[in-house]
Amino acid sequence: MSKKVVLAFSGGLDTSISVSWLKKKHNLDVITAIVDIGQDENFDEIEKKAYSIGASKHCTIDAKQEFINNYIFSAIKSNALYQNKYPLATALGRPLIAYKLVEIANQENTKIFSHGCTGKGNDQARFDVTLRSVMPDAKIIAPVRDENMSRDEEIQYAKDLNVSIEKKSQYSIDENLWGRSIEGGILEDSFEEPPKDIYKWVNVNNDLADRYIEIDFNNGIPISIDGITDSLEMITHLNDVAGKYGIGIVDHIEDRLMGIKSREIYEAPAATVLIEAHKDLEKLVLTRNELEIKSLLEQKWSWMIYSGLFVDPLVKAINSFINKTQERVNGTVRLKLRSNSLTVVGRKSENSIYDQNLSSYSSSSDFNQTYSKGFIEIWGLQSKFNEGETK
Ligand code: ARG
Repeated sequence: MSKKVVLAFSGGLDTSISVSWLKKKHNLDVITAIVDIGQDENFDEIEKKAYSIGASKHCTIDAKQEFINNYIFSAIKSNALYQNKYPLATALGRPLIAYKLVEIANQENTKIFSHGCTGKGNDQARFDVTLRSVMPDAKIIAPVRDENMSRDEEIQYAKDLNVSIEKKSQYSIDENLWGRSIEGGILEDSFEEPPKDIYKWVNVNNDLADRYIEIDFNNGIPISIDGITDSLEMITHLNDVAGKYGIGIVDHIEDRLMGIKSREIYEAPAATVLIEAHKDLEKLVLTRNELEIKSLLEQKWSWMIYSGLFVDPLVKAINSFINKTQERVNGTVRLKLRSNSLTVVGRKSENSIYDQNLSSYSSSSDFNQTYSKGFIEIWGLQSKFNEGETK
């Protein structure tokens, strides 16, 4: 009996040719697995395809709730935007998929894994690092990367094997609840405006009346949006509503782990709204010093997730700091959606350290202005020695 391999399968070109490559060149029984983290796919069709091209077993795993609880919520608390722009949808999904592959491998009694990643992208790191963190002696076969296959060679190989490849778009697309990543084709020209037909979630040609959204947060995570309290519904609702208002497009020149710069387009309405609202509420309840250190750690956190090091101990340590700060991030944020724009228009919290009485210019303020004179004398003590320089 052949040994088994667990392949992360999407039904696309890379993973489809991998099925027969693993069978023919490695003499393995192929177990295909797809993890549902909110991508809009027909999972029955993908299962059929897997069997039709030679999988010996196929698994579909619903991990949407786990994705929200253990990944998306951490990203919100960390205001996670790689290079201040990309909400990390694809990057957050990969470690979870890898963990699910390990669960299947344990049931099937194998330590051999496969994925369709190329050697140029970030996903190979996310899969391999996570897999090896739980199974250090895992064997990982990535046919496209390991054989240095070009896309044209892949298509030829698929034809030789009679593996059907649907007329696919020129773009490479990855999708989950937290966003849709689009790259390739005409988008590779960094000066070219993205054609409108690449968008699926965001309506760029809308003309809607203004609308308000209120988001309640508890310990840094959303607990109610427009009266919805189920987390999966909250995120799909925001993707839908904010998407209709044209919110959430990111056009990004991005630095990949392997040093390559790439041009990526993202659609991430819910992520854009939630991070904007969350950041705003933090400004109401956290101190200046907390905000300063937190923003440095947020950048580091985002880089760790982006570069495949989700499992690194540093991420856990940063999470501890961030979770401590989030104990006070409770309250409500009001946002206004207008055609193609999003603005926070109000925020309130029981933990607010904004004090209207202090900041007010009206006569009733308790703030004793006369103290400021002496404070500023001392504050500027060293700076005044440079007085002559600018003259
Ligand atoms: N550049 C993003 C990342 O590394 C998205 C990659 C998405 N993959 C795709 N096939 N479009 O996380």
